[in-house]
Amino acid sequence: MKTPYFVIQEKLLAENIGGFQEALNTLWPGSILAYSVKTNSLPWILKWMDAHGVYAEVVSDEEYQLSLLSGCPADRIVFNGPVKTEEYLRKAFEGGSIINIDSRHELDFICREKPAVHGILGVRVNVDPSIFESHDVGYQEDGFRFGFGYENGELLKAIETLREVYGDIPIGLHMHVNSITRALGVYKAIARYAVKIVTDYDLTPAYIDIGGGFFGGVPGKTTPMEYIAGIREELEKAIDPAGTFLILEPGSAAVGSTVELHTSVIDVKDTAHGRIVTTDGSRIHIDPLWLKKGYMYTTDSKRPSHPRQVVCGYTCMDHDRLMVIEDKPELKAGDHIVYHRVGNYTVTFGGPFIRPFPPVYVQAGEQLELVRKQMTMDEYYRMETV
Ligand SMILES: Cc1ncc(COP(=O)(O)O)c(C=O)c1O
Repeated sequence: MKTPYFVIQEKLLAENIGGFQEALNTLWPGSILAYSVKTNSLPWILKWMDAHGVYAEVVSDEEYQLSLLSGCPADRIVFNGPVKTEEYLRKAFEGGSIINIDSRHELDFICREKPAVHGILGVRVNVDPSIFESHDVGYQEDGFRFGFGYENGELLKAIETLREVYGDIPIGLHMHVNSITRALGVYKAIARYAVKIVTDYDLTPAYIDIGGGFFGGVPGKTTPMEYIAGIREELEKAIDPAGTFLILEPGSAAVGSTVELHTSVIDVKDTAHGRIVTTDGSRIHIDPLWLKKGYMYTTDSKRPSHPRQVVCGYTCMDHDRLMVIEDKPELKAGDHIVYHRVGNYTVTFGGPFIRPFPPVYVQAGEQLELVRKQMTMDEYYRMETV
């Protein structure tokens, strides 16, 4: 098969999602599992999630629209993010979505239009980073970007604004933070913080949305059961699981471990400084932050090892170097390298830089099914409007 291409292992997807569903059913029945669409917005995945009872968590009008197109009903969408437009806020109110108000402009819209709530309304909390260990969570100096702060009274003002419009309806609290370590302690700290807010404001929240950021499908790391048990242990101090939903929004934990990138070696050469292996993959496909130093990979080369090979991508950027491998089988043109567990922020990240996105296949049993073809240059050219 012509490389490069992604393969999604459906079995692993089912295991990752099944793990969260089982843990929620056991520890907090009636919770909502929502897939973070931005992590990989491939329509096949969105349809798969919907078919398996998973809501869509979206952060733009376009993700909202894509979720609807993929068959997810509006009342199974969690609408987050600071860039919701009034048009899509209206749609979300009418359709009964779960809406987490992030910013002032959304409150202004609500005060002006007073749209009826058919779903559930929540407020994103601007969590104080100092509640975490500094090695677990960054942004210690400038804080997080999203939501309303408890410490400076903005959260209370936001809740009071909603109460002026809607009376004393149950409101949810959205508490996602990006952590460095995905440690259980991060979630326990968020849950304790939620308890503090709920107690201080005397709230019976409609839900606590703990967000995403979990490990998933990584042997030896915290499991969904352990995360949810830890969260419950803290939340229970002020929140009755029978009266308040728990919402989880995994992205990486759902898809990260399920995706492979299959590549081929195009050329091997020695320069005065070392061995350069050029492949038809690229770091732009599998390392959106350009920070990774190594990958879980397999190759079909059975040759004796070579002391040092610099594996590079197809782009003409000199820094498109995927990894330096030492004392590993020597690679030659035509060999294959498969990168495993590369599903986070990759398959749908970026654009047609130098070459279009690789196609995507799904492996279910022995079968490989093409679920995204490669865009042709003709199709790209026809996007021009002049
Ligand atoms: C609001 C929200 N929910 C969920 C996620 C998913 O996080 P992850 O992919 O780490 O699970 C993110 C990612 O940043 C997010 O911003």
